[in-house]
Amino acid sequence: MLRTHTCGELTLTNVSQAVTLCGWVHRTREMGGLTFIDLRDRYGITQLVFNSDLDKVLGEKAKKLGREYVIQVTGKVVERSNKNLKIPTGEIEIMAAVLEVLNPSKVPPFTLEDDTDGGDELRMKYRYLDLRRNMVKNNLLNRHKVARAVREYLDGQGFADIETPFLIKSTPEGARDFVVPSRVNKGEFYALPQSPQTFKQLLMVSGFDRYYQIVRCFRDEDLRADRQPEFTQIDCEMAFVEQEDVLQMFEGMVKHVFQKVRNIELGTLPRMTYADALKYYGNDKPDMRFGMLLHDLTGVVKGNGFKVLDDAEYAGAIAVPGAAEYTRKQTDELTEFVKRPQIGAKGLIYVKCLADGTFKSSVDKFYTEEDLKIWAEAAEAKAGDLILLVSGELTVARRALSELRLEMGDRLGLRNKDVYKPLWVLDFPLLEKDKDSGGWMACHHPFTSWKSEDEQYFETAPGKIRANAYDFVLNGVELSSGSIRIHDRKKQEKMFAAIGLTKEETETKFSFILNAFEYGAPPHGGVAFGFDRFCSMIVSGQENIRDFIAFPKNNAGRDTMIDTPSSISDAQLKELGIGIEHH
Ligand code: AMO
Repeated sequence: MLRTHTCGELTLTNVSQAVTLCGWVHRTREMGGLTFIDLRDRYGITQLVFNSDLDKVLGEKAKKLGREYVIQVTGKVVERSNKNLKIPTGEIEIMAAVLEVLNPSKVPPFTLEDDTDGGDELRMKYRYLDLRRNMVKNNLLNRHKVARAVREYLDGQGFADIETPFLIKSTPEGARDFVVPSRVNKGEFYALPQSPQTFKQLLMVSGFDRYYQIVRCFRDEDLRADRQPEFTQIDCEMAFVEQEDVLQMFEGMVKHVFQKVRNIELGTLPRMTYADALKYYGNDKPDMRFGMLLHDLTGVVKGNGFKVLDDAEYAGAIAVPGAAEYTRKQTDELTEFVKRPQIGAKGLIYVKCLADGTFKSSVDKFYTEEDLKIWAEAAEAKAGDLILLVSGELTVARRALSELRLEMGDRLGLRNKDVYKPLWVLDFPLLEKDKDSGGWMACHHPFTSWKSEDEQYFETAPGKIRANAYDFVLNGVELSSGSIRIHDRKKQEKMFAAIGLTKEETETKFSFILNAFEYGAPPHGGVAFGFDRFCSMIVSGQENIRDFIAFPKNNAGRDTMIDTPSSISDAQLKELGIGIEHH
């Protein structure tokens, strides 16, 4: 080895030892005849001292070192007079005797400090330099720790890690497929898996019983902070289980990982139905770190001649604690917030519950003190609270209230990233209306089974069928989804028919799994955690997954470092049998 120690391990116990270190020149300072260098590697920083009075040639050589030069230094460990107690190696320094430049470096395009001067784009283009910075480096090392804790738990529970193919046929998870042209079979394409869903089910048919894989998935969808076109799942499946077994198994996994990686005890995991999540939080991934629940005021706001509310399908409200003193400017801001196109509410009504027990509202023209008192009771508002009410179409109004609740939670500092509030959301609907086609589509995916007592609704009200499907939610972020699957050919055919697939489509797309169900498919179910999200939430309490992926794509789906996607040569296109169009 080129070194005897790393830059993160030498302490007072090593004083007077001769050591050799390798690393990058992080910082250089000169003081009289002395040159101080902070030498950095993955493990930390160690201070080197070059004394020109003792060795002029060596001193001159040290002065010429630039930032990020890779060097090898041999010298003696000595106690520092000027100690830095902020770092583990801060009580010692190395009196350098030999210096070898292993490789010089150009001046990096941005500073490699915790607070860098480099913008997002520049850092992405030089991602290998960005990865030298503590934050991103530590994120990746923590990601490794999470993976290890996950494997430790699942191995301990008898799960077998089995790989599934990447060149497959479309697995429907609701996004678009990335496709790969086949050279050997001209005009034909593979699809990259959106998840290993069908394969893990086939492994259950094969009898593997407990399967897992930390596996890359590919989805051609619009990107956000918590979405990447290629991301990683902890994908799991179990045979001979019911929903309760799966919930307990993976509750165990989450707790194990939190304990191992953060030393945090999560305690028992609460559960909530999908219907309640929507009713009380306005969405299917409630942030449980604070209250401010939605209250249905539809029944109490009607009949005063105020058309907006009289005509509304739904009127809901939240009571914001201590915000009764909000100014006109602040309430106007909130109105603009819910009217943004992404949210789409028509407006916002407010009621200030003043300290003296009176009310001041934006609808004083239509409602008396008495009326508003009834509103306040229905919204469980106290004196000093600000009631925010949104009305209109149920889904739109709920979404607006949900966003408003999160916004107010942020403003009031109720969303502390060091507080973890997990939740299972249960009983998702099986089917939902596709906005574009008007037909039904699978809410989770079409392999999900349904509650037998809801079977009757297939004919009359498909939207009412509840699935045996569950999500694990942490602080308002969906970390995993799963379900108990269909394992019966007839039922699977019924599901495909319900989502509008013809017999022929079913046959060409899914005959493999339908056939497999006829050869002794066991009852089975499972779950997949978004591994990037899981890491990001566990380590940072936030969901910016890009910071936890070594080489991520930007918001336009590009890797600017290697500059891809990019065009390919005409020769390559020809070989693949793909028509060439010149624009
Ligand atoms: P689902 O599609 O809900 O379920 O995905 C499971 C989890 O994967 C994460 N996830 C993503 N993370 C980053 N970027 C993305 N583009 C992205 N898309 C999804 C989420 C999500 O909860 N086969 C089923 C699982 C099952 O039924 O077992 C599936 O893939 O955290």
